[in-house]
Amino acid sequence: AKENGDLFSKSFQDTTSTLPKGNSWGFPDHLLQYHGFWHSSVFLQGILSAQQQFQAQPADIILCSAPKTGTTWLKSLTYATITRTSYDDSTSPLLSKMPHDVVPFMELDHAHFSTHRHLGIPVLATHMPYSALPKSVTDSGCKIVYICRDPKDSFVSLYLFVSKYQKSQNMQTFNLEEAFEQFCQGVCCYGPYWDHVLEFWKASLEHPDKILFLKYEEMSDDTILYVQRLAEFIGCPFSSEEEEKGVPEKIVKMCSFENLSNLEVNKNGKHRVGGTENAYYFRKGKVGDWENWLTPEMAARLDQITMQKLSGSGLTL
Ligand code: A3P
Repeated sequence: AKENGDLFSKSFQDTTSTLPKGNSWGFPDHLLQYHGFWHSSVFLQGILSAQQQFQAQPADIILCSAPKTGTTWLKSLTYATITRTSYDDSTSPLLSKMPHDVVPFMELDHAHFSTHRHLGIPVLATHMPYSALPKSVTDSGCKIVYICRDPKDSFVSLYLFVSKYQKSQNMQTFNLEEAFEQFCQGVCCYGPYWDHVLEFWKASLEHPDKILFLKYEEMSDDTILYVQRLAEFIGCPFSSEEEEKGVPEKIVKMCSFENLSNLEVNKNGKHRVGGTENAYYFRKGKVGDWENWLTPEMAARLDQITMQKLSGSGLTL
């Protein structure tokens, strides 16, 4: 395995040495542009490895998202929905494990340890753009659930996550205005944000039975409705008996920001990826918090880019 690893890193270096380099928001290594999207070297390595190794099964469910759009929430809701006959809101592993630790992340967990294909339930997550998904994902016809969010809130969430991490590592924190400029130019992990969203949006229009396209804001508005849709889409709809017993409500409550963010594991636990704390994944969980961070000019600029990029697509954010 070590030999394979060495060969892989040699071919990784060959593949990436000529890629365009982009601003890395204050981190030492540049972002690399690969097939139109910006990636950190670690995640790009994970993407290439997953593209080579990952074998999707038709029954798989792949949770897809750009960073900071509600991935943690979607993982918890999907996990709780799919495991509801084994656990309830007093026995769920979600009460003692971080959502990222019950649904593996393809670029890290699977790519490096292919035995970690999934943890007992056929659900995996990735931030890969649609065009970068391993071919077996699209070929197998497995189900994909995508979540996106108002780019203003995604940007703020991303910026504050990065700053928190940089502070914890005694690094200089990256400047908000500069990060904003990079985000607008599409230079951020897995960016351009709009291209990420659009690829999944278009694919969901072509394959509505295979791709469920969700928005954070709509989910916040009526989480129960969307959990019912999610359950139906992934092939385990709530029975009328379950609905009468309030099972969807219980799942929504257990996975709510208030509940998850107050659990010991999510308050004080460490994430398995170097130096990140679980608490970083639970900041505020509100729609429209961008108002506290962006000037009206910044907001107008992002809205303008969003309008231009999405124009003609039928999608609004
Ligand atoms: P904010 O920074 O705006 O609070 P991701 O999971 O993709 O990394 O996205 C993180 C964002 O989702 C953060 O947004 C975080 O607070 C929010 N979030 C985490 N858990 C949530 C939950 N259970 N319900 C709603 N939002 C949640």
